[in-house]
Amino acid sequence: MAKKVFNDIKNKSLLNLIDEQINAEFVASYSYLSASCQISSLGWNGIAKFLHQQYNEEKKHADEIISFAQLLSHNVLFKNISVIEMTKKNVLYLLNQLLKMEIENTKKINNILTISLNENNFAVFNFFQSFANDQLLDINKLSTLIQKLSLDKNEAELWYVIDQEYDKMYN
Ligand SMILES: [Fe+2]
Ligand SMILES: [Fe+2]
Repeated sequence: MAKKVFNDIKNKSLLNLIDEQINAEFVASYSYLSASCQISSLGWNGIAKFLHQQYNEEKKHADEIISFAQLLSHNVLFKNISVIEMTKKNVLYLLNQLLKMEIENTKKINNILTISLNENNFAVFNFFQSFANDQLLDINKLSTLIQKLSLDKNEAELWYVIDQEYDKMYN
């Protein structure tokens, strides 16, 4: 009986989605790091610090999902980390790429929640609920920053003030 319950939780398609999600978290982490380095090289150190913190957050997500997979005795299948296109040295372009990535990640998390709920897999459903909240936070942080940087004012002055603000916030 215990074995049957355990096997129900270890549904094959959900385990594949868990593997994919671990990869998506590493891709997110690596992409934030890439954007942070590029923005730092342009001299916007406050914004770079914010992105570096996001890099650590996403890495933590990957670690948490790996621990959860281990709780299920699942042997995680590691895939290559394909970083999203991050080569244009333009702050708003990079932030918009990250925002697109977070929107895609939200869809992936929502898919895991929908499937686990349909299958009455409450262990998986409960675990991923907080990830849905984190996605909302990440999307909010990025879109707020994009909005602020897009305000129609003297650009250099405005960006300087915002960068200083982020420099103080992410210490
Ligand atoms: Fe994440
Ligand atoms: Fe995220």
